[in-house]
Amino acid sequence: MDRRQFLAIGTAALAAPALTGRATAKAVAGQPLPIPPVLDLSTRTDAKLEAIAGRNAFIEGKPARTFGYNQPYLGPVLRVRRGEIARPVVKNRLDFPVTTHWHGLHVPGAVDGGPQLAIAPGREWRPELEIDQPAATLWYHSHIHGQTGPQVYHGLAGMLIVEDPGAANPGLPSGWGIDDLPIVIQDRVIDPNGALVYNRSRPTMMHGLRGSEILVNGVMRPRASVARGLVRLRILNGSNARIYTLKFDDGRGFDQIASDGGLLPHPVTRRVLVLAPAERAEIVVDLSDGKDVRLVSLPDNNDPMGGMMGRGMGGMMRRMMGAGASANPEPVTSDGAFEVMRLVPDRPAPATRSLPQNLTGAAKPITAQPIRRRKVSLDMGPTAMMSTGNPLAINGRTYDMARIDFDVRQGDVELWEISAAMMAHPFHVHGTSFTVVSRNGRRTPFETTGAKDVVLVDGAAEILVEFRKKASRTTPYMLHCHILEHEDGGMMGQFTVS
Ligand code: C2O
Ligand code: CU
Ligand code: CU
Repeated sequence: MDRRQFLAIGTAALAAPALTGRATAKAVAGQPLPIPPVLDLSTRTDAKLEAIAGRNAFIEGKPARTFGYNQPYLGPVLRVRRGEIARPVVKNRLDFPVTTHWHGLHVPGAVDGGPQLAIAPGREWRPELEIDQPAATLWYHSHIHGQTGPQVYHGLAGMLIVEDPGAANPGLPSGWGIDDLPIVIQDRVIDPNGALVYNRSRPTMMHGLRGSEILVNGVMRPRASVARGLVRLRILNGSNARIYTLKFDDGRGFDQIASDGGLLPHPVTRRVLVLAPAERAEIVVDLSDGKDVRLVSLPDNNDPMGGMMGRGMGGMMRRMMGAGASANPEPVTSDGAFEVMRLVPDRPAPATRSLPQNLTGAAKPITAQPIRRRKVSLDMGPTAMMSTGNPLAINGRTYDMARIDFDVRQGDVELWEISAAMMAHPFHVHGTSFTVVSRNGRRTPFETTGAKDVVLVDGAAEILVEFRKKASRTTPYMLHCHILEHEDGGMMGQFTVS
C-alpha cells in the first residue's frame, strides 16, 4: 500500500454511509484467541521489530490490508527485564514514516519513540532501553503526529511486559497462554468486504473513532481455552477512543492485581472494571468451577453532547461536534452489555495456586510534597475554537511540534491539576508513572489505583508526577489525550526534563 492509498482509506470512508458489516461478521466470532509470540529483548541483542504491511482476514475468506510489527496485524509481545538494557532493532518496511513509542516505559526522551523520532521508509532505529522500573504490562505503538489514529487502528501496536527478577510472586498464574494471557481489546468498523474503515470526518474527530465490532488480539469476539483454575488476564485497552466497563456475564467477581505502572500492593476485589483507551489492568479470575464465562462490556456513552455545554448547543454546533456519531456493538445481556470474548476453562490447571495477599515488587506511590502546581486544561469545543481556531487543544494551544510548552526539573515532584472540557478524556504523560491524588475533589486511594500513566479525567483530576529521566528540546516528552483522534487533532503538548 502506498501513501496515497493509505490516506485514501480515510477519505473513502467520508463518502460511504454508516457501515457495520455486522451480518457477515457473525461468521467468524468464536475463533480461538491468538496468543502473540513473545519476543524476549533481554536474551538477544538483535531482536528485530519490523513495521510491515500485511493482509488479515477479520472476516473469514476476506483478507484486508493491515499493518503490523513482524506479523500482518499487531505485533509480538515484547519482554524486557529490570536491570538490563534492551536493544531492539526497529525497521520500517512501510512506505510512510512510523515511530515506535514505548508507552509506559521510563526511558529518556531520546529513545521514547515520540513524534520527533520518525523512522523513514526503509530505515532502521536502534534505541538502547535501560529497564529501570517495577514489573508491569505496558505497550508500544506508532506515534507519528496526525497519523497515530489510523496507524494504530490498522495494527501498529503490541504489548510490552516488564519483568522484575528481584520480585517474584510464585502464587500468581504464569503459564503463558494457559493461565496468563495477553488481552488486547480494540473496537473497529469493518465493512462487508472485511476491510478496516477509518473515518476522518469532523464528528469522528470529535467523538473519537468507535466501531461496532470487538477484536481481541486481532480476532473478533474470540474464545480462549484456559486453565480450570485461577486465570490472569493482562488487559490492554488498545482502542482509539472506546471506554470499556468490563465484567463477567454471570456476575462473578475477580481480583485486580495491577494497573498501568505495575502491581497493586494487594489484590482488589471487583465486579466491574472501567478501562479507558491506553489503560492496562491485570486481573485474576477464578474459573475452577469449569463453567464457560463471557467477558462483556457496558456501552460507552462518552459523548461531547453529553455535557452541559452540549445540551445547551444550537443545531449547527451540535452538527459540528458530531452528535450521535457513536456506534455500539450489539448487546448480549439484558443490561445492554456486549460481548468481548469467551473464556472456556477446559485445560488442567498447572498447579494449585492461591492468590497472595501481598504482592511483591508492587509499584510505589509518590509521596513527596510537590514543589510546584501546574494547570493542564484539555480544551475542546467553542472555547478551544476561539483561542486556537481548532476545536482540540491543551491550555489554549493546539499541538505544535516546533513549540516546547514547558520544562520540568529532573527529580522535582509536581502537582498537575487537569481539567477536561465537554467529555471525559484519558490523559497520558510520557516517560514516567504518576500517582492520582484525586478525581473531582475526591481522594483516590493508591491501594486501588496504583501507579498510572493514563488517567480518565471526567471533570477534574490531580496527579503527582516526577521525572527521573531527561528529555531535550529535540526529543521532548508528550502529554496528551489518548483518544487518538483528539491527539492527532491537536490535544497534545510537549515538555522537556532537564
Ligand atoms: Cu500511548 Cu503518547 O502514547
Ligand atoms: Cu506514551
Ligand atoms: Cu480527548
